[in-house]
Amino acid sequence: MTKVWDGFIRGFHWLLVAGLVTLYITGEEGMMDLHFVTGYLLLALMAARLIWGVIGSQTAKLSALFHSPKAILSAIKSKQSHVGHNPAGSLMVLLFFVLILIQLVSGLMTTDDILVEGPLAQYVSYDLVELAGDIHHTNIELLIAAIALHIFAIVVYRLKGQNLVKTLVTGKQENAVSTPVMKSGVVAYLIFIALSALLLFTWGAEPLQGLM
Ligand code: HEM
Ligand code: HEM
Repeated sequence: MTKVWDGFIRGFHWLLVAGLVTLYITGEEGMMDLHFVTGYLLLALMAARLIWGVIGSQTAKLSALFHSPKAILSAIKSKQSHVGHNPAGSLMVLLFFVLILIQLVSGLMTTDDILVEGPLAQYVSYDLVELAGDIHHTNIELLIAAIALHIFAIVVYRLKGQNLVKTLVTGKQENAVSTPVMKSGVVAYLIFIALSALLLFTWGAEPLQGLM
């Protein structure tokens, strides 16, 4: 058994899923205090993931996510197992990062036109606030489509004989073709906690009070 996912990547994934589900429900239901607080926590989580993509384990590296179209196509066709994200999976991960960042940044500039507005709305023009609102509403549909495709791909790999979920949960892979350089995910969790505290004490203080 070879360790291929560090503790942070494994925790990051399920925290991301929990955060997005909470944000979707609270957004649709207009529970804005919880929406904002969860939004700041997700912002801290994504920032920690991107930092970890520079200083973290080999399989967490952002530089490992870029591949040629040829490599992506052959990864879709082949049954060969891979250490870390394969080239097709890497494209999916990049797409997620971009869509989630668009959702977060547009949220920071959005208003519900009644009671609340994102912390950046006051610094940008009215037109940009309107645009950010449109993006926040439309981009969520793209994110949902990407999630559906992601889960479909995981099922297809399972049918091809690769249990990617088990590997992501345990962090360990059988018959790995190489041994990646791993780092302790604790550092990334500390970055996440520090950024969360910073955001909750600043932008998050008001919505947090609303929740108490
Ligand atoms: C809100 C829904 C979801 C989102 C946004 C999401 C997003 C992601 C992202 C961003 C990664 C890359 C992890 C990283 O390198 O940091 C990933 C990987 C992965 N996800 Fe999800 N995911 C979702 C739901 C699920 C579900 C429900 C499952 C299981 C059924 C799943 C299984 C996996 C697996 C197995 C990988 C590793 C893929 C590989 O080996 O390359 N995901 N996901
Ligand atoms: C990835 C993270 C996020 C997701 C998935 C998300 C999702 C949503 C959804 C589904 C809605 C309802 C849209 C609709 O009614 O059609 C919404 C509304 C809203 N979100 Fe987010 N959101 C995120 C981050 C944020 C952040 C960080 C902020 C600000 C700090 C924010 C501020 C708002 C506001 C003000 C609304 C109300 C818009 C309106 O009523 O027109 N969101 N969000």
